[in-house]
Amino acid sequence: MPSANAKSLRTRRHPLIITIDGPAGVGKSTVAKLLATQLGLQYLDTGATYRALAYTALMRGIDPSDERHLVPLARSLQLTLHWSATKGLAVMLNGRDVSRQIRTEQVTEAAAIVAHHPRVRAALVRLQRRLAGDRYLVVEGRDTGSVVFPHAPYKFFLTANATVRATRRHMELAQLHGRTPSVTVIAKQLRERDQRDRIRKAGPLVKPPGAVAVDTSRMQAAEVVQQMLQHLALPARRPSRQGRTCGPDCQ
Ligand code: DC
Repeated sequence: MPSANAKSLRTRRHPLIITIDGPAGVGKSTVAKLLATQLGLQYLDTGATYRALAYTALMRGIDPSDERHLVPLARSLQLTLHWSATKGLAVMLNGRDVSRQIRTEQVTEAAAIVAHHPRVRAALVRLQRRLAGDRYLVVEGRDTGSVVFPHAPYKFFLTANATVRATRRHMELAQLHGRTPSVTVIAKQLRERDQRDRIRKAGPLVKPPGAVAVDTSRMQAAEVVQQMLQHLALPARRPSRQGRTCGPDCQ
């Protein structure tokens, strides 16, 4: 049952797309999922498309820096993303669930290399727009407000200092894989990745024109969402009786 908010949003004349961009480890996914849940919108993780391509390349023995072989692979990628507020995000590649496999350190490194090729990006941007369709959604990545959906009516750019981001990524990896590099090592990797993302020619990491910048360093995800809701000029939904926030499929 859509909320009153979602209903009023759906009566708008233009497709409702909220873009959230920012560097790695800033908390985009957590915030995007929370926001989508609160507003009863769909959620699109564009990073999953880069990860799925990198994973496919590694499986087929294709070098992530080999743009010539990556482009046809990107164009023919059979990828679907299924998100539900209760079940989370399922990443399906050729009908197979690869949600966990695309989050390994090896794939993370390969995805960062894959994301540098302009023609690969062009193919994946087309795929991301196809995945979005005409749904109302919250989309997150590095270039969603600048390149993928430049006409989105609402844009956010999240930032946080490198140590905070490394600590968050550390906890995320520990939860996912049980073991993880130290915070110091992750912070160094993040700084290097930021630099590469910022200077690349195609789809560089930038604050899109008109985007609202939010420094999340000292905020919990729920506070970030509250701040975003204020910018959207929409009241937050009340938590359900169990204390959790009701999403689109919450009873
Ligand atoms: O957000 P993430 O860590 O899942 O993203 C995986 C990689 O893809 C990362 O190196 C950044 C890149 N990426 C990108 O270049 N553009 C996007 N819109 C999303 C992700």
